[in-house]
Amino acid sequence: MKKLKYMSFSILVLCIFYLSAPCNGEDESLGAPMKRTEQEALYSAIQGFVGKWWNGSDLYPDPCGWTPIQGVSCDLFDGFWYVTDLSIGPVHDNSLSCAQNVEFSSHLFALRHLRSLSFFNCFVSPNQRPVSVPSTNWEVLAESLESLEFRSNPGLTGEIPVAFGLLRNLQSLVLMENGLTGELPESIGTLINLRRLNLAANAFKGRIPDSFGGLNRLLILDMSRNSLSGFLPMTFGGLNSLLKLDLSNNQLAGKIPLEFGNLKNLTLLDLSNNRLSGALTQSLQELSSLQELVLSNNPTGGEIMSLEWQNMRGLTALDLSNMSLTGGIPESIAELKGLRFLGLNDNQLTGNIPQKLASLPNVSAIYLHGNNLTGELKFSDWFYGKMGRRFGAWGNPNLCYSIGLVRAGYAPFGVKQCEEKVMKYETHLISKSKLGNGNSDNHDSTSTASLGFKGCGLNRLVWFVEVLMVLVFNFSL
Ligand SMILES: *[C@@H]1O[C@H](CO)[C@@H](O)[C@H](O)[C@H]1NC(C)=O
Ligand SMILES: *[C@@H]1O[C@H](CO)[C@@H](O)[C@H](O)[C@H]1NC(C)=O
Ligand SMILES: *[C@@H]1O[C@H](CO)[C@@H](O)[C@H](O)[C@H]1NC(C)=O
Ligand SMILES: *[C@@H]1O[C@H](CO)[C@@H](O)[C@H](O)[C@H]1NC(C)=O
Ligand SMILES: *[C@@H]1O[C@H](CO)[C@@H](O)[C@H](O)[C@H]1NC(C)=O
Repeated sequence: MKKLKYMSFSILVLCIFYLSAPCNGEDESLGAPMKRTEQEALYSAIQGFVGKWWNGSDLYPDPCGWTPIQGVSCDLFDGFWYVTDLSIGPVHDNSLSCAQNVEFSSHLFALRHLRSLSFFNCFVSPNQRPVSVPSTNWEVLAESLESLEFRSNPGLTGEIPVAFGLLRNLQSLVLMENGLTGELPESIGTLINLRRLNLAANAFKGRIPDSFGGLNRLLILDMSRNSLSGFLPMTFGGLNSLLKLDLSNNQLAGKIPLEFGNLKNLTLLDLSNNRLSGALTQSLQELSSLQELVLSNNPTGGEIMSLEWQNMRGLTALDLSNMSLTGGIPESIAELKGLRFLGLNDNQLTGNIPQKLASLPNVSAIYLHGNNLTGELKFSDWFYGKMGRRFGAWGNPNLCYSIGLVRAGYAPFGVKQCEEKVMKYETHLISKSKLGNGNSDNHDSTSTASLGFKGCGLNRLVWFVEVLMVLVFNFSL
C-alpha cells in the first residue's frame, strides 16, 4: 500500500514535470518571432527557384508558425525562428516546384542556420537553361550544413565547387543524377564527418583524388556511372567504416589494390563495367562482411581458383561474369550457403561443374554459360525444373547432361545430351514411353542422343530406319 502511494506520488510529480516543461517551451515558441531579414531571405530564395509569381509574404505570412511551407522546417535559436531545412522540388503534391527560369538567389546564403538543403528534379533543361552550382558563399553555411543534396537535376551542369570542401560539418553529400562534369575536387576529401558521399550518374572524369581515402567515417560511397579513369586509390584502404562501395560503370583501370582487404565492414563492393586488370586481388578474400561482390565486365584475367571463397561466408550475390577468368570452378563456392545469385558466365572457365552447386539452399540463379566447361552435368530434373533458364549452361561446347536423371521437358537449356552407348537404347525407349508426356522436341532428342546422333536430319534418318525395320519385320512374318 505504502509502495503504491509512493508510486502514484512519483507519477504525479513526473506528470507535472513532464507537462510543464514542454508547455513553457510551446508558449515561448508560439509567440516566438522570426527576424524580418530571415523571413525575407527565405521568401526571396524560394522565389528564385519557383518563379516570380510566388509571393511568400502573401501566401505564407508566418512560415515557421501557423502557415508552414511544405519543404521548409524551422528551429528556435535564442528565442527566434530560423530556417533549418529547405527542400525544393516535387516530392509531395504541394511541394515547391521549380520554374523554367530557375536560378540560385544569393539570398539562400543569408539562411545561416540551414542544416539540410535539397534540390530534387529542379534544374531540368540542360539545353535551354543550364545552371551551375554557385561557386562561392558556401563558407557561411560551414557551421550549420549537415546535408546537401542535388538529385535528378539534368540541367545542373558545371563542376563541383571547390568551396564544398569548406562545409566541414557535412555528413551527407548527394550529387546524384545531375549533369555535373569535370574532375572531382581534392577538397571533398577534407569533409571528414561525411557518412554518405553519392556522386553517381554525372559526367565526372579524371582520377579519383587520393584525399578521398581520408573519409574514415564514410559508410556509403557511390561514384558509379561516371567517366572516372586512372587507378583505384590505395588510400581507400583507410575507409574502414565503409559498408557500401560502388564504383561501377566508369573507366577505372589497373589492379584492385591490396589495401581493399582492410574494408572489414564492407557489405557491397561493385566494381563492374570498368577496365580493371591484373587478376583477382588475393586480399579480397579478407572482406569477411561482404554480401554482394560484383566485378563483372572487366578484363581482369587470372584464375578464379586463386581465392579462398569460403572465407566470404556472408555472400548472397557473386557476379564474376565476363572477366576473362580461367581455370576450374572452385568447390569452395558451393560452401557459400547464403548464395542467391552466382554469375560466372562469359569467361574461359574449364573443367567440370561442381555437383555441390545444386545443394545451395537459397540459390535462384546460376549462370555458367559462355565458358569451356566440360564433362557431364549430373543435376536432377528437380533442380533443372526449379531453375529453368536461370540455370545457364549453354555455350559450353564440350558440356552435356546425362539423360538418365532428367525427365522430358526438364533438360537444361542449350546443353546437349551426353552420348551414350547403343546398348542403353532399349531401356531409354522404355522409360520414354512410360513417361509418355514428353513433347515432340524431347521425344526426338531422346532417341537421337541415345544413339549418339544429333541434329534434325539424323533424327529423321533414325525414324526412317525404325519404320523400315518394323516393315521388314512384319513382311518377313
Ligand atoms: C507580395 O504581395 C504584397 C501585397 O499583397 C506586395 O506588397 C508585395 O510587393 C508582393 N511581393 C512580391 C515580391 O511580389
Ligand atoms: C564495423 O562494424 C562493427 C559491428 O557493426 C562495429 O562495431 C565497428 O565499429 C565497425 N568498424 C568500423 C571501423 O567502423
Ligand atoms: C565484357 O567486358 C568487356 C570489358 O572487359 C566489355 O567491353 C564487353 O562489352 C563486355 N561484354 C558484355 C557482353 O557485357
Ligand atoms: C535462406 O533464405 C532464408 C529466407 O530469406 C533465410 O532465413 C536463411 O537464413 C537463408 N539460408 C542461408 C543458408 O543463408
Ligand atoms: C576447350 O577445352 C578443350 C579441352 O577440354 C580444348 O580442346 C578446346 O581447345 C577448348 N576450347 C577453347 C575455345 O578454349
